[in-house]
Amino acid sequence: MEFKLAVLPGDGIGPEIIEEAVKVLGAVGNRFGHGFNLNYGLVGGVAIEKEGTSLSIDTLKMCRRSDAVLLGAVGDPKYDDPQAPVHPEDGLLALRKELGLFANLRPVTVYPSLIDNTNFKPEVIKGVDFIFVRELTGGLYFGRPKRQWRTSRGRRAVDSMVYSEQEIERIVRVGFGIARTRKKKLISVDKANVLQSSRLWRQVTIEASRDYPDIDLEHMLVDACAMRIIQNPRYLDVLVTENTFGDILTDEASMLGGSLGMLASASLAGVPKEGSRTLGMYEPSHGSAPRRARQDMANPIATIISMAMMLRYSLGLTEEAKKVEDAVEKVMEEGYRTYDIMGEGRTKVGTKKMGDLIAERAGG
Ligand code: IPM
Ligand code: MG
Repeated sequence: MEFKLAVLPGDGIGPEIIEEAVKVLGAVGNRFGHGFNLNYGLVGGVAIEKEGTSLSIDTLKMCRRSDAVLLGAVGDPKYDDPQAPVHPEDGLLALRKELGLFANLRPVTVYPSLIDNTNFKPEVIKGVDFIFVRELTGGLYFGRPKRQWRTSRGRRAVDSMVYSEQEIERIVRVGFGIARTRKKKLISVDKANVLQSSRLWRQVTIEASRDYPDIDLEHMLVDACAMRIIQNPRYLDVLVTENTFGDILTDEASMLGGSLGMLASASLAGVPKEGSRTLGMYEPSHGSAPRRARQDMANPIATIISMAMMLRYSLGLTEEAKKVEDAVEKVMEEGYRTYDIMGEGRTKVGTKKMGDLIAERAGG
């Protein structure tokens, strides 16, 4: 089959990790006889530099015309000044909003061969396997008012955590749907003891749960959830939560897998179904790590696993996705490690070598 993909490498380590994901994609494509038509575009700091905006209309159009979008990372210390008029991250947020990618899936997996390379006791993290369903186009990131202004008594600023019941309902239904394919248990994470938006979240979730009598629904406060992730992560299976809570909790949870460099992500415009075709954007959960850029150091695995999620959810290629995931697992078992997951007695490799190893096994 032929597929049309938009590829947006972005900033920092973005181009390097994307190159490896494309390498693995090529290998698995050859193996199964698929062709990928790749169209490259700019987003983030590089786009500001070359096109004067963090996301051009043309790039957005190109993404709309594609079967899926593969993205590296955005962010550049040049724009860290809080007074900067533009930010690379704006391009990423615009893509999520404009493409309607409200459902962000972030699976947390602990590879058995990596357990020794984490900060956790084996008995705590052995067998950990859960998934976050993070709402991605609402909440504090997009809510209005959102501004900074001067008053006679100094400066003030506001961000608004806004949710409509429709926005809540569609994301919790994604959570229930995924719970149905797993252990039939859904944890909805909120701060309903304090926040109005969370109280609505909880009501809407309870109402929606009537359509899923087979699913065991639990509400968990976000602070308790942060604790539970560290204390007893095996307790977790499917978690659904709003945008900012999801952002913070997923970085925390990534440490269970050894590194943020292992946490993949899929952002979808509809209900995910294996073998079906939903528009989606696939990117690692980590940032552009500018200090690691251009040193052949960065871990490309989160991007490669995100690409596998693309095969599964946007291109309908289930077997091919599995092949890539198995290739990653094999390379981990064989003891190859990038710097961030390096451990005693393992073989340290750079970005390119890691990509080669996975590509060989995915194409074999
Ligand atoms: C993520 C990132 C982004 C977010 C940044 C880069 C805007 O941290 O995908 O988790 O906050 O959503
Ligand atoms: Mg984040």
